[in-house]
Order: sequence, then structure tokens, then C-alpha cells
Amino acid sequence: MQQDIEKLKTEITSAIAASENLDTLEEIRVSSLGKKGSVSGLMKGLGGMTPEERKEMGPILNALKTDIANEIADRKATLEEVALNARLLEEKLDVTLPPRDRQQGSIHPISQVMDEIAEIFASLGFDVAEGPDLETDFYNFTALNIPEEHPARQMHDTFYLKPDANGDRKVLRTHTSPVQIRTMVNKEPPIRIIAPGRTYRSDSDATHTPMFHQVEGLVIDKDTHLGHLKGTLEAFLKAFFEVDAVTLRLRPSYFPFTEPSMEVDVQCSFEGGTVKIGDGNDWLEVLGSGMVHRKVLEACDLDPSVYQGFAFGCGIDRLAMLKYGMNDLRAFFDSDLRWLRHYGFSALNIPTIAGGLS
Ligand code: PHE
Repeated sequence: MQQDIEKLKTEITSAIAASENLDTLEEIRVSSLGKKGSVSGLMKGLGGMTPEERKEMGPILNALKTDIANEIADRKATLEEVALNARLLEEKLDVTLPPRDRQQGSIHPISQVMDEIAEIFASLGFDVAEGPDLETDFYNFTALNIPEEHPARQMHDTFYLKPDANGDRKVLRTHTSPVQIRTMVNKEPPIRIIAPGRTYRSDSDATHTPMFHQVEGLVIDKDTHLGHLKGTLEAFLKAFFEVDAVTLRLRPSYFPFTEPSMEVDVQCSFEGGTVKIGDGNDWLEVLGSGMVHRKVLEACDLDPSVYQGFAFGCGIDRLAMLKYGMNDLRAFFDSDLRWLRHYGFSALNIPTIAGGLS
């Protein structure tokens, strides 16, 4: 018996020493110390022995088991080190090699236009407000006077998320208007904010991308009227397009959250293949706007007999395309370095009213 044990030990030990990788070593471990392994089999035999035999064989078998386990652990450490060294050698990096050409970064036209807009509105006394891209149904629709089953919900091709445990479905906000609600709920009037950011609708062609950008404007005070809206938009568009004057056309329209509602067109010309904003014989639609609906004020706990105001929403990507003469919206999000180099802006060229916007 003792001789058999010695023989088994020599066999296993030499197999361990000869193993060249971790997989083979693992096979040896299983075939010796594993549940059905040879050493485990011997250990099981202890149960059938007389107390005297067990007293003699117990320590011997235990020692066998411990020795083999130790040898496997030692071999494992060695093999792991060998594997690590091989990998280090293979992944060696020559830090003395010359670097690749340095890539010059630039400011994306959308970021540039957002900065320009923020700068113009800051000069008019507006703060910048923010809201999440993932909105609740309440902020994106209900509080904006778009109840469930309202046909206006179909105006937006909404991306819905999977319902949560309570059955509530969040949405990717379809416009920046939910920031109006968030602002009115959290802030006492007078309110003067813009809210630029990402918006999402299931739509894709040369002038629509599933993710796009809007800027919302909101003014709430005790004596705000339509004249303020028109004056604000004139001042904004004049500054943005860097022209001395703009002529606006307010066209009656419909939004559930404003009453009255209007779409705003700016006079322009398309002569010579480029748009010129300011004068001409054509009109270009640039934004949607209106006086904040009393139901929206009420949803935010503001008394409509005390407070009124106006709101507007404007597509930033479209403004950028118009101002900087880019004709395919999809290129904005292609990350094509050639396009970015051509249309991008220097990082040091921060737009300011005094120093020039662009
Ligand atoms: N949220 C509207 C849209 O996305 C735009 C809008 C904003 C209209 C504010 C009126 C007032 O079409």
C-alpha cells in the first residue's frame, strides 16, 4: 500500500513538473485532487479501514494530498509568471518611436452656434437652464397641455423607453419645452431663460436626424406681452445672423402649450445660390413661439391672472446650416475629420458680443 502511494506520488509530481501550461496543470489537479481524482479515491478508502489502519494511513494520505496541492500551487505560480513575461514581451511599446502627426481639434459648428446663442441671450439678461434628455411623460407632454390621446402627441415621433416596474414609460425628450416646466416649477418669476440641448424624434433624411438640437426660450413676468416676444426674437436673429436689421413675419400656428401660437419667418433672399438673411423676396421659417398657455402656467402652480409670458423653440442645427452654409444635416454627426476641419472653429475663438460672434 505504502509503495503504491509512493508510486502515485512520483507519477503525479513528474506530471506536474512536465506540465507546460495552465490548462494541462488544471487537468492534473482534477485527475488527482478533484472529486473523482486518484488521491481523493484513496482518501475515501479510509472510511472502510479498521481504526488501527486508519491511524496509520490517515496522516500519510493527508500528507500526500497537501504535498500535491503545494506542488500544483508552486507550478501554477511559475507558469503564470512565464505567461505574463511572454505577454509583456509581446506587448512591448517602444516609447522612443516618434509620435503620430498631432491631430488639431476644433469646435463643432453646433457647439459654436450654442455658444453664440448663449452669448446673445446673456446680453439680454437670460440665464441658461438645463433638463435631462430622458424625460417623464409629465414634463414632455402632460404639463405642456398635451394630455394622453391628444392628437398633438402624434406630431412628435417619440422614442419610448421600456416601462418601469410601475408601468411608467420614460421618453427621449422630443423638444426642449419640458425645461419650461422644470424652470417654472422650481423658480419664482421673473423668469428669463434659454435651454439649449439635445432632442430626439424618430425621423431621418437630409434635413432630419433622430437626435437634433433645440434651444428653448422662456420669459415669465407680470406684464409680458407679444411685443416683448417679437422684440426679443428680432434682437436675437439680428445678432445671430450678424446683420443690421431683420424683418420678421409672425404666422398664426398651433402649439398646445402656447396661445396664441405663431411660427416665425425671417425675410431672406436665395439669389446666387446662397441664403442672405435680412432682406429679399423670400421667407424662411426659423422657429415656433407663442404666449405661454394658461393651462401650462396652472400646471406649474402659477396664477395666470398674475403672470404671463412667452416661449419659443428653435432648431439649432438648422440655424447652423443657414448661417454657415452647410446643406446636409447628417454630415454633422458623421465625425468625418475632413468635414470637421473645414467647418470647425478654433477653440480660442470664443464668441462674444464685443469681439464678434463668428
Ligand atoms: N416645442 C415646439 C417644437 O418642438 C416649439 C415651441 C417651443 C413652440 C415653445 C412654441 C413655444 O416644435
